[in-house]
Amino acid sequence: MNILVTGGCGYIGSVLIPKLLKDGHTITSIDTKWFGDFLPKHKKLKNIKSDISNIENLNIKKVDCCIHLASIANDPMAELDKNLSWETSALNTHKLMEFLKKKRTKRIIYASSGSVYGVSKKKNVTENTPLKPISLYNKVKMVTERVVLSYEKSIEVFIIRPATVCGYSPRMRLDVTVNTLTFSALSRKQIKVFGGKQVRPNIHIDDMCDIFRFFLRINKKYAGIYNAGFENLSILDIAKHVKKTIPSKINIYKDKSDPRSYRLDSSKIIQAGFKPKKRIFDAINELHEKYLNGILKQKLNFHSLKWLKKILKKY
Ligand SMILES: NC(=O)c1ccc[n+]([C@@H]2O[C@H](COP(=O)([O-])OP(=O)(O)OC[C@H]3O[C@@H](n4cnc5c(N)ncnc54)[C@H](O)[C@@H]3O)[C@@H](O)[C@H]2O)c1
Repeated sequence: MNILVTGGCGYIGSVLIPKLLKDGHTITSIDTKWFGDFLPKHKKLKNIKSDISNIENLNIKKVDCCIHLASIANDPMAELDKNLSWETSALNTHKLMEFLKKKRTKRIIYASSGSVYGVSKKKNVTENTPLKPISLYNKVKMVTERVVLSYEKSIEVFIIRPATVCGYSPRMRLDVTVNTLTFSALSRKQIKVFGGKQVRPNIHIDDMCDIFRFFLRINKKYAGIYNAGFENLSILDIAKHVKKTIPSKINIYKDKSDPRSYRLDSSKIIQAGFKPKKRIFDAINELHEKYLNGILKQKLNFHSLKWLKKILKKY
């Protein structure tokens, strides 16, 4: 299959693309490469440095399916430049969809976010739960979903609302919960927990990538919106999990600046036939091993917010 991956050099893309190449697909990746480029050289990979707003001018031939990952990818980064957040994600997605329509692309798989539900005390936040996005990032994600869905008549639309992803990627993100707490335990022997009671769903990066591969193959009658998160845990419980594997001290700070709290119910994707294989525990162990082997290191561009702030000064 000819697959266009937007945001292919990011945290998820850097694990996903090697898997897709191994599956035998031909890949075109478009990425601004804000955080670097960690993709392997491969005869079936065309790795383009570009903003998706420029997609019409790139030499891209056939696209059977698009996996759309390009976005400003968390709450504090989205706040850095509100206009850029809307443009990068929502408006550019409109351009992307027009391009895909012209190319007669059959399917798009869009990585939205489970955070579109905002704060919810419900035990089971299913895909039918009304969206109450509270941050700019959540709002942009919700509107971008609507942009993608408005093309449903001409393209098969699969929208994933992933939990927070965890685990190792060559383009590491040290700003996502499990990774942050694990890295802090490894490098400082202490874990800072702000608040701690907020419940967040989690998904291992291998399961995240396998969901894209699963949706590439599935019958079109399954098109629709899917939650994807298989472990709902409070931040404090995640910290305790980390402490079990990596001896460290947990320090709790009173903080209400990030109240997002919700549990995802992912029964729909499981009923469609997807089986998750990994848990938070695996992510912590794998990160631990990579750290001991010297593969996982502290790098400035692994801290997305600080790094993007630096880059935006040059924009
Ligand atoms: N990682 C998570 O925990 C998580 C959870 C839920 C949803 N998501 C979503 O998954 C997607 C991928 O996330 P990630 O963790 O890999 O983030 P990431 O920041 O590592 O990757 C995003 C990539 O998109 C690129 N990019 C941004 N705007 C672009 C544009 N206009 N044109 C071309 N490239 C552009 C960036 O350079 C970056 O490499 C995002 O849409 C994010 O919102 C991620």
